[in-house]
Amino acid sequence: MRQLIAGNWKMHGRLADVAAYAAALGQTPGHVDLLVCPPFPLLDRFSAALGGSVALGGQDCHAQAQGAHTGDVSASMLKDAGASYVILGHSERRENHGETNAEICGKTLAAMAAGLTPIVCVGETGTEREAGAAEEVVRTQLRHSLPSDFAGVVAYEPVWAIGTGKTPTEADVTAMHGAIRAALVAQLGAAGLTVKILYGGSVKPGNAASLLALPEVGGALVGGASLKAEDFLAIAAGAPGV
Ligand code: 13P
Repeated sequence: MRQLIAGNWKMHGRLADVAAYAAALGQTPGHVDLLVCPPFPLLDRFSAALGGSVALGGQDCHAQAQGAHTGDVSASMLKDAGASYVILGHSERRENHGETNAEICGKTLAAMAAGLTPIVCVGETGTEREAGAAEEVVRTQLRHSLPSDFAGVVAYEPVWAIGTGKTPTEADVTAMHGAIRAALVAQLGAAGLTVKILYGGSVKPGNAASLLALPEVGGALVGGASLKAEDFLAIAAGAPGV
């Protein structure tokens, strides 16, 4: 399976940054799929600049198609602006906006209905890992965030590794991705075998190749290091070939 290297720009970037970044992504290594998830106001500009060579995604969507929801964006609006993916249930949204697994499940259904590929994020806090509860926390998130007909991508992002420069050991990533695969198969049957599982949390050019080579790692969800095209491409270059 080709790996997916996704950049989550979070709340960074300006319209003026788009042209140079998109031009730099013209040097994309051919053996991976690249995805950029910028803030909503940059999507349309990115869509024009990339011309379909790199996929685009949003960072959230509402569970409903339209309505009186000030400040929210629907999945079909993202699609209209050029997105084909949407990140859902990122830990920053779970924490800053109190998003529950049930709400994330509703958003996931809306994304699928609009023809977007959802990237559903799961991951334990440092306290949960220290308590030995990491796998159980992630299994619970999967059980309640994914609809029974889920078709999309899962991103494992340990909360304590996001933006901290810390990463789990290779053994811990391998164990968690294996546990996620088993949970996906238990929940979704054979469909669970083909769901890509991304790793996210302090992925950098220097550690990407070793993380991406681990079993059941189908790509990366990159925050800070995706903001510089050079670093993002260096991470993508570290992905194993098919
Ligand atoms: P960093 O790569 O900055 O740790 O962020 C990871 C992340 O949250 C991607 O969604």
